[in-house]
Amino acid sequence: MTEPQFTQQQREQPEPEEGSRQVPALVLTIIAALFIWAVYYLYADYSPMPAFLGDKRVAEDFAVPAVADGGQLYTANCVACHQAGGNGLPGVFPPLSGSEWVDAPDPGVLIQIILHGVQGPLTVGGAEYNGLMPHFHDKFSDQELAAIVNHIRTSFGNSAPKTDAAYVAQVREASKDQTTPWKGDEDLRPLLQP
Ligand code: HEC
Repeated sequence: MTEPQFTQQQREQPEPEEGSRQVPALVLTIIAALFIWAVYYLYADYSPMPAFLGDKRVAEDFAVPAVADGGQLYTANCVACHQAGGNGLPGVFPPLSGSEWVDAPDPGVLIQIILHGVQGPLTVGGAEYNGLMPHFHDKFSDQELAAIVNHIRTSFGNSAPKTDAAYVAQVREASKDQTTPWKGDEDLRPLLQP
């Protein structure tokens, strides 16, 4: 006679020694330590600021105010022709270093040159050039143009008084009817005379 298998299994009892074995003290200690640590963690991490208030700062709060950097603008727009040291290339690109156009007491001529460009014979420091200087009136804001002007008037050995965006705006307005590059000395020389 055979009993069904599961009754045989159910009949099995644990080993007496096994049934009375305690949870080891080490495990209890670890559980207790974890519990204490968790409570401490919650306590240490508590912030009186309710989370829903959140961090309300937005991207603009971190934006660095955009200040036009004349040196950078010069490098990006003028270096190709007038070179990093402002010396130009003999016979091709006139120097900005020691140039009467750059160092003029009134920065207006320099602003005009950068705004509208030059095409035609132009004398710089006694040497004649006859190339094409591109215009930048649609490329630079008043602030950027002022930054470039200030940069070249105080670099390459030049030390002429600085200008500002308001003066650039004034010169821009006064020459707004100029649609072609200045014709070199012919147009610009008279502007050098105060
Ligand atoms: C594509 C080359 C080229 C670039 C780019 C250029 N220039 Fe010129 N620039 C010239 C040439 C060529 C002349 C002379 C024009 C002539 O002979 O009629 C000139 C003339 C000038 C003059 C008057 C002459 C002098 O040397 O003082 C100034 C000032 C000047 N450039 C400033 C600038 C500034 C500032 C920039 C950048 C914003 C610039 N140029 C970008 C080619 C360039």
